[in-house]
Amino acid sequence: MSVRRLAEEQFQPAEFAFNAENATWAEATIRKYPAGRQQSAVIPLLMRAQEQEGWVTKAAIEYVAEKLDMAYIRVLEVATFYTQFQLKPVGTRAHIQVCGTTPCMLRGAEDLIHVCKSKIHPEPFERNEDGTLSWEEVECQGACVNAPMVMIFKDAYEDLTVTQLEHIIDRFAAGKGSDVKPGPQVDRIFSAPVGGPTTLTGDIQPIRFNDTTPAKTEEASVPPANAAKPVTDAPETDKTLKTPATAKKAAAENVKQKGDSADTARPVEKEVAPAPAAVMDEKNRPAGIERPETPDDLKMISGVGPKIEATLNGLGVYTFDQVAKWKKAEREWVDTYLKFSGRIERDDWVKQAKALAKGGEAEYIKVFGKKPR
Ligand code: FES
Repeated sequence: MSVRRLAEEQFQPAEFAFNAENATWAEATIRKYPAGRQQSAVIPLLMRAQEQEGWVTKAAIEYVAEKLDMAYIRVLEVATFYTQFQLKPVGTRAHIQVCGTTPCMLRGAEDLIHVCKSKIHPEPFERNEDGTLSWEEVECQGACVNAPMVMIFKDAYEDLTVTQLEHIIDRFAAGKGSDVKPGPQVDRIFSAPVGGPTTLTGDIQPIRFNDTTPAKTEEASVPPANAAKPVTDAPETDKTLKTPATAKKAAAENVKQKGDSADTARPVEKEVAPAPAAVMDEKNRPAGIERPETPDDLKMISGVGPKIEATLNGLGVYTFDQVAKWKKAEREWVDTYLKFSGRIERDDWVKQAKALAKGGEAEYIKVFGKKPR
């Protein structure tokens, strides 16, 4: 934790005042608090001052103190305590706060700091040459499950690798930070398991009250006559799928439950009727190959995370070229097998795979205007 002091006098502007819009907003914010409690507005007002000026100046602290009838030292204490407040000028396009606390440190925060040092400036709080970027190390930001992570202004970018942080910095440097989606940078919803649900994926019997009819027997114990042949070389986790129909039903149920609660940031997977047996016919299964010496990194395809990649490998799918050649029936077969309906079409895996197979990252950027994951 660094010592937090106000910037040297040479950086401090002589005065501060809210612009007209922010002054109106400040008056309305102060009025939200009961009489005698207006000082509770100190954090929102300091934050708005920072948004207006880019950082919290000494003049802004004095202005807020006067506005809230507080002693200057009290406002100074707040501003110097919270690392959300920047006490000297920072990058105009991004100030990157790298979490360096234990979980993030164990998951690669040091490498992320090294990226900041090499791409921005060797020292924290120092800006790059054109003044657009700066960085610092901060304490835990409360996203440890998705370590390592960084904050950029109000957004968190999680589950980062060196390559991903380099990409994020490049986008912000180019003034295109809004291109990067905040949150986890891997295939997960918020802090849910990578690759999708890992629990409660089976059929769940409804709770029955005052019902004397016999409980329905386990659906999976009597496979439908037209059920697909079991896939014998699937990874262990996927062998738990009882039938394509019941797996689909369970996945849809899980997605529905998630959609009702927290998942508003990602498109909810499409809930569809169980796949007809024809879709799961073995003749539609894409041909697999032996594992090559250097398989392609299928996770470069947006929508493919580590778990899905493992599942694809279990089907003998190791290369972009294989995915690029999937026909409609094969895509439908894999789509049903993966339990995530619509993902292959929605993310256009085939188009992505074609670009990657043709010219790797460079071709992908040419086609999609951005780096692959
Ligand atoms: S340790 Fe990094 S977010 Fe908690």
